[in-house]
Amino acid sequence: MKQYWDEHYEKFRIIEPSKFARFVQQFLEMYETVLDLGCGNGRDSQFFYNLDTVSEVRGCDSSSKALDLCDDHIDKFYLDVTKDTKLLINLLKRSSIIYCRFLLHALPPKNQISLLHTICESINMYTKVFIECRSETYEYIDYTYSEHERYLVNATLITNIFNSYGITNITDVQKNRAIFKNEDPPIIWSVGIKQ
Ligand SMILES: C[S@@+](CC[C@H](N)C(=O)[O-])C[C@H]1O[C@@H](n2cnc3c(N)ncnc32)[C@H](O)[C@@H]1O
Repeated sequence: MKQYWDEHYEKFRIIEPSKFARFVQQFLEMYETVLDLGCGNGRDSQFFYNLDTVSEVRGCDSSSKALDLCDDHIDKFYLDVTKDTKLLINLLKRSSIIYCRFLLHALPPKNQISLLHTICESINMYTKVFIECRSETYEYIDYTYSEHERYLVNATLITNIFNSYGITNITDVQKNRAIFKNEDPPIIWSVGIKQ
């Protein structure tokens, strides 16, 4: 799968921030330290870096090709969230904002669960967590054109794990959040705060 992402970033050139990053902007206070988990080419990391409310941005990804595309202002970490737990925990503890866009559905369910638990266990009080990912759906979506496996996420999984750690959250599923080519898939947005 790592090879898939390396090849993907040889062609992927979108640098505009995502709709989710623009949505997240309103929740940021002064001197935020942002951790962008699965940052890809850093399109959203760069957006956060340019905000007055943000003092530091760390981006991590398991594709070195993706990290090579990130701007030098971003503190870059080569990190596989399923393997490098020690580094992951260290970065989580040092960040006031955990941002995770379109990483969760790239991970098999057991890794999704384990990542969510690690985030919840490791973050400090008042840390905010923002997750965007593709939702399970009753509609048929044909993914056969892609070699990229997607493990669609159940929104209740996120809510239940967040709730079990006292992370107050609003988690919902809607369309018209991440239209891609001719697809308008149902997308989960989750905003949580540990308190
Ligand atoms: C769909 S891209 C999203 C990139 C970026 N967040 C964005 O919104 O443009 C998914 C990213 O997750 C990364 N990724 C996949 N599995 C990973 C893992 N186990 N650990 C860290 N990053 C991973 C990929 O390399 C890729 O950059």
